[in-house]
Amino acid sequence: MKLFAILFSWISACLLPSHAVQAQQEPIVIRFSHVVAADTPKGKAAVRFKQLAEEATNGRVRVQVYPNSELYRDREELEALQLGAVEMIAPSLSKFGPLGVREFEVFDLPFLFPDEAALHRITNGPIGAGMLQRLRLKGVIGLAFWDNGFKSFSANRPLLAPSDLTGLRLRIQPSRVLDAQMRALGAQPMTMRFGEVYAALEAGVVDGTENPPSNFYTQGMQDVQSHFTVSNHGYLGYAVIVNRKFWEDLPSEVREALEEAMRKATAYAASISQAENDRALNAIRASGKTQVHVLTETERQAWKKALSAVSVEMEDVIGRQLIADIRRTIGTR
Ligand code: LMR
Repeated sequence: MKLFAILFSWISACLLPSHAVQAQQEPIVIRFSHVVAADTPKGKAAVRFKQLAEEATNGRVRVQVYPNSELYRDREELEALQLGAVEMIAPSLSKFGPLGVREFEVFDLPFLFPDEAALHRITNGPIGAGMLQRLRLKGVIGLAFWDNGFKSFSANRPLLAPSDLTGLRLRIQPSRVLDAQMRALGAQPMTMRFGEVYAALEAGVVDGTENPPSNFYTQGMQDVQSHFTVSNHGYLGYAVIVNRKFWEDLPSEVREALEEAMRKATAYAASISQAENDRALNAIRASGKTQVHVLTETERQAWKKALSAVSVEMEDVIGRQLIADIRRTIGTR
């Protein structure tokens, strides 16, 4: 019976005109896994990429987006990508250490980037391109940097001065820079997957966390954190990466169409990130559950001072030259 089916499909393929055979071709499927909610800068950019990619390839490529750690969680998604179990992911830049490229943690340095324009001089310039290039050795190709935004601290007590974090257990991503940052503030860093943070806060396993408002609000953290301090002390963004073999085996016209779709999705991510975070911050305020405090300039200077040693401390981990090049490029040396 099986043999008959195979024979039948072979004979029909031979008899069909070539364009019909092409139409029968299996689509190229890109499984795009990520860990945040669909209603975030990354979640929306992933869906935009799907639309653009499918349109540009006339449906030859199908992109399946899996948000909220549905398919894989933080570290697992990196392993899944290397093994070819998914084709595309966009981990936070703080999560590349386990891949053996610690220099991505330079983006975690507190108060390194004064604003998004300075950050884009790095992510859109030769330094960013060089960093993505280094990923090839790890079996992945870096396609783009996507924005989220600047992070804030939260806890169940007011956080006005750096010393307010003393003794608190704070959830971090797996980054040595973030570990050093929390220690410099007298807090106890605890590495944890993103999908587990809400439950850990609720259970009191950790006392606080840091993230841009969009990630905080879409996980419902306002239900379990009474205070949120807009500190903008560090940046959170992503590198969109694909499995190298998958990418290099694509027909060149498909790859070019996908590169163009990625360029447009990247511009889209940059255009919505600030508004998405503003919207989330307003929603946190409106929830009435979490008190929002925006640091005054004097308070901000005190946090800056408390964290000023982290950069020097981390030179050996992320590279003194890279830090110097970034500072020179953005003019903060
Ligand atoms: C986190 O783990 O806190 C974030 O990096 C999640 C994300 O991908 O934005």
